[in-house]
Amino acid sequence: MVERVKTGIDGLDKALNGGIPAKNLVLVAGGAGTGKSTLCMQFLVNGAKKFKERGLYISTEQSEGELKKQAEQYGWNIWELEEKGLLKIIYIDIIKENHFIERSREAIKNFKPKRLVIDSMSTMSDYMAVTDYSKQSWSVTSVQNTVIPQFFSEKLMSKKILSSLINELKNFDATALLTTELPEEGKALSADGLSEYICDGVMVLHYLGIVGGDTRSLQIRKMRYTQHNKSYLPYEIAQKGIVIHEEQAMDVLMK
Ligand SMILES: Nc1ncnc2c1ncn2[C@@H]1O[C@H](COP(=O)(O)OP(=O)(O)OP(=O)(O)O)[C@@H](O)[C@H]1O
Ligand SMILES: [Mg+2]
Repeated sequence: MVERVKTGIDGLDKALNGGIPAKNLVLVAGGAGTGKSTLCMQFLVNGAKKFKERGLYISTEQSEGELKKQAEQYGWNIWELEEKGLLKIIYIDIIKENHFIERSREAIKNFKPKRLVIDSMSTMSDYMAVTDYSKQSWSVTSVQNTVIPQFFSEKLMSKKILSSLINELKNFDATALLTTELPEEGKALSADGLSEYICDGVMVLHYLGIVGGDTRSLQIRKMRYTQHNKSYLPYEIAQKGIVIHEEQAMDVLMK
């Protein structure tokens, strides 16, 4: 039987047939303000509170203070969970910091989280693509030892780095959510066009913006090792975080 990690969000766990299969790497894709960071933090807070599982949040976008301020809005007491050693937030300013990959790796090794969030994966991979990261180490075997021909395109190189990064994450003993930004239009499922194939799961957050309402829906596009609901699940960002109305699943909306 598949071991599962419950998100603690009832409608989502139901749609996942009980939870995310343990150790899956799951992309959380969506446009600006769709609730990606909220969903990720809720996953860690629920893990810590309900299941006493350690959660690590690696942020490249919002600072620790900003994330705590947002969490406070939902009534989540991050400080208490940090004190108990159940939650850790690390902010990495990728503009100032050269060793963000090493820092992430060290943090994961030291904290040994059962639940991991990288928010955002697209910022991290974009940055890796424009810097000279190919010559540094993320995955020693797959990048450092590779002879890179001059004509290797930047895009191909960044894909290679990204896939080695994701593959290294697979070796850690954690179930992970990785956020990626999606433009309002377009059919890609990640900012880089590759993560959706390498990751075990993809959840897409849509903002429909239908007149007269704050209409949002979540779709589980892919989830390896389990059956799952494939419909559009309406959700709201409510007072205590994300609430998913699995019972109101929409099959025919969009496409
Ligand atoms: N206390 C609250 N109650 C209800 N909704 C809230 C509350 N605080 C924030 N929101 C909603 O959550 C949205 C932001 O959610 P979040 O930061 O998780 O989205 P995101 O997808 O991570 O955004 P970004 O693309 O900026 O990273 C806000 O735009 C707002 O609509
Ligand atoms: Mg965010």
